[in-house]
Amino acid sequence: MTTARSTTGDRSRPYKVVIPAAGLGTRFLPATKAIPKELLPIVDTPALQYIVEEAVDAGLNEVLVIVGRGKEAIIDHFDRAPELEAALEKKGDDDRLEAVRRSAELADVHYIRQGAPRGLGHAVACAAPYVGDEVFAVMLGDDLIDARDALLKPMLEVQQQLGGCVVALMEVPEDQVSMYGCAAVEEAPGITVSDDRALGGVVKVTDLVEKPGPEDAPSNLAIIGRYVLSPEIFEALEHTEPGRGGEVQLTDAMKDLAAQGVPMHGVVFRGRRYDTGDRGDYLRAVVRLAAERKDLGPPFVEWLGEFLEEIRADQSAKS
Ligand code: G1P
Repeated sequence: MTTARSTTGDRSRPYKVVIPAAGLGTRFLPATKAIPKELLPIVDTPALQYIVEEAVDAGLNEVLVIVGRGKEAIIDHFDRAPELEAALEKKGDDDRLEAVRRSAELADVHYIRQGAPRGLGHAVACAAPYVGDEVFAVMLGDDLIDARDALLKPMLEVQQQLGGCVVALMEVPEDQVSMYGCAAVEEAPGITVSDDRALGGVVKVTDLVEKPGPEDAPSNLAIIGRYVLSPEIFEALEHTEPGRGGEVQLTDAMKDLAAQGVPMHGVVFRGRRYDTGDRGDYLRAVVRLAAERKDLGPPFVEWLGEFLEEIRADQSAKS
């Protein structure tokens, strides 16, 4: 492991990725009483697998998942399943066998347990021994980024050019700003990335506020769950007091770093993002991705059309 601080510059080794998955998933109870919310399926694939696939697509395959009590099924999901594989092999069910093996072979997945759910900032701090003194990525499982729209890779490129930390931002309606970390921004010097088709530019972040009320929101640019962080974040987290909701907030530690003069930039994302942390948005994500699937889409979309007609007919009969 290197001891030299590598906050900018070219990298010969891939960045490590940290995925916090220790939250209680209360919004999906009772489903999440015994099943980690990260494994709730989006069609037939757990939400967390989409996140790991996104990391791998961006060239990162060293993944640390921060787990908590009751999350053991996550470890099983990214491991081999010899009995299941043998049964599928015997049946000659090659497609499912391949799907089952894929999640075990996708990336090099490691785990650390966060003893108590004390917030996103505390979860990221748990990754310090794994990450060491290197720039790394954090990906939050509630935000699914469409595989067709590059975000993480351009963020890594921005970090290589400007150093410090880079966060993904997205414009949200003003009445939703209070659900997110929110950024005050200024124009940044023009920089180029290899694929900016889903991006709305790069900005300098001058301040950050976690879940602000409408009167305190510095903009309508919300943090969506992708970060590239320099290792200084670990020291900042050590000094971060519990904030919003009594939890140690990653946003507060980043705000601190920006105030200390650590470069802090935002990549504005304009691509397809699916929020799976909220039940309504989760349902929309499942329907949308099912509709777009080659194997399931055509009959599903046809049924959806008929179902909508039925609902509308019912509604007009009632009114
Ligand atoms: C977390 C972060 C918040 C960010 C959001 C993105 O909040 O604290 O700054 O905007 O993820 O999904 P959470 O959704 O965990 O409450």
